[in-house]
Amino acid sequence: MGKILVTGGLGFIGSHTVVELQNKGFDVIIIDDLSNSSMDVLGGISSITGIAPTYEKLDLKDKPKVQTFFKTHQDIQGVIHFAASKAVGESVEKPLLYYENNINTLVYILQELQKLKPANFIFSSSCTVYGQADELPITENAPIKNAESPYGNTKQIGEEIIKDTCKVTPHLNAIALRYFNPVGAHKSTKIGELPIGVPQNLVPFITQTAIGIREQLSVFGDDYPTSDGTCIRDYIHVVDLAKAHVVALQRLLNKSTYSNYETFNIGTGTGSSVLEVIKSFEKVSGQKLNYKIADRREGDIVSAYADTTKANTKLGWKATLTLDDAMRSAWKWEQHIRKNN
Ligand code: UD1
Repeated sequence: MGKILVTGGLGFIGSHTVVELQNKGFDVIIIDDLSNSSMDVLGGISSITGIAPTYEKLDLKDKPKVQTFFKTHQDIQGVIHFAASKAVGESVEKPLLYYENNINTLVYILQELQKLKPANFIFSSSCTVYGQADELPITENAPIKNAESPYGNTKQIGEEIIKDTCKVTPHLNAIALRYFNPVGAHKSTKIGELPIGVPQNLVPFITQTAIGIREQLSVFGDDYPTSDGTCIRDYIHVVDLAKAHVVALQRLLNKSTYSNYETFNIGTGTGSSVLEVIKSFEKVSGQKLNYKIADRREGDIVSAYADTTKANTKLGWKATLTLDDAMRSAWKWEQHIRKNN
């Protein structure tokens, strides 16, 4: 069996996916430039699976190095491409940084995959491509809306680039997974999310508030047209999300795709409001969370949750972990990292 290349394999979703790949017997090679990750994650992965993945520090923006990497690794059977910048606010301030980090690198990898036969590719996309969908739950056929940020745009453009490349490269098979909101951590507390600075995402902000690093969580708006007035999202446990990559890869390797470019929503199918997430956290942690209702955050959509029928039927994948499971693991992880730092 050849190797599976995981770019950004030391990041939040990448590291959990490496664990699930190793659990299924895949030989993994990680590349990561450590721009938003740490070498400690390698130790976390191997202490869960008992296998140390091969790791190479590589900046995917360095085209000659990417070419050399693929030349020396002709046995790569599949590529799961996580490496990308993901802070929405930063992308508004530094659009060219995002286009360079997320688009140039994608082009360089695809250029190498055109030379590799056969080539299998999985892309980290996002539900952000749908914006505020007109119909809920959101199916893969929902129209793609104008991107709200350069970050969101890199996911839309990324999908287009892959689709166009697949059209002219019959030996290239690709799947774009559109993640809803990834949360939680591995239950072993050996790997999890490591946000740099003040977290922009809800769950790490909740756990950091509960542990005392942040004073108070602001709930961004309680006057939305939802049951309790707060925004609705589809929070998917990162371990379920990681497993979706393994089944998507198997689909590519088994050649059971109906086209050489497919997209899948990866979510639970259930929407939860911000207040429901807080309630879940309070229940599993036994702690009261200090929060206040604040103004709406610019750019937030009201409600987004997935129709997962396509992933259920074609990938044979379904989320199995609950919001409570995710909040419990996120809280255990937060306590673990604070104890060890
Ligand atoms: C954000 C990104 C999205 C990205 C996703 C990855 C934006 C506009 N969108 O989605 O592109 O793919 O993260 O996970 O940033 N909330 C609070 N208080 C907080 C933080 C968040 O009330 O301190 C609320 C938000 O208003 C939202 C929900 O919690 O309703 C989830 O927010 P967040 O975790 O930032 O995710 P998204 O905005 O859905």
